[in-house]
Amino acid sequence: MAITSNPRKTDDVRKAAGRLSSEARSADQLMEKISLLLNKEMLKYNWVGFYMLEAGASPPALVLGRYQGAMTVHTRIGLNQGICGAAAASGKTLVVDDVKKDPRYLACSLETKSEIVVPIFVHGKVAGELDIDSHFLAAFGDEDRELVEYCAQLVGKRLEHK
Ligand code: SME
Repeated sequence: MAITSNPRKTDDVRKAAGRLSSEARSADQLMEKISLLLNKEMLKYNWVGFYMLEAGASPPALVLGRYQGAMTVHTRIGLNQGICGAAAASGKTLVVDDVKKDPRYLACSLETKSEIVVPIFVHGKVAGELDIDSHFLAAFGDEDRELVEYCAQLVGKRLEHK
């Protein structure tokens, strides 16, 4: 079972993300600041990054955007690949407590043990996603899921009003 992050901490970080959203000059800047915030403040969020659907690509592909953490070879992911592809294809948040047990998992780092991927919606359609890896098993509980979904919503809203 996941050990969720401290609700007081997630609440503080949620408020900080809301402030970033009103201050950011662009969606790109908001994604940069949110990845920095989550990586710095949430101790189990060891890699935090955005993948965005490439406009007009056929077949569709997710392209790595702003991120914090180690460099990854997965800069472009098809919708039929990885946990990232599955989250974008289904439009559902995916939480994987133990990546070793999920055959879909595309390894970025040997240290990664659990992962959450939250789709970003723009005008009701998946436009990208927020992907977070942890060096800890089952790092993402309900509090974390709510926080990451909130951050993904902020980016989606910002992309709608750019
Ligand atoms: N693990 C992801 C690939 C992206 S890296 O985590 C940065 C996946 O399985 O889709």
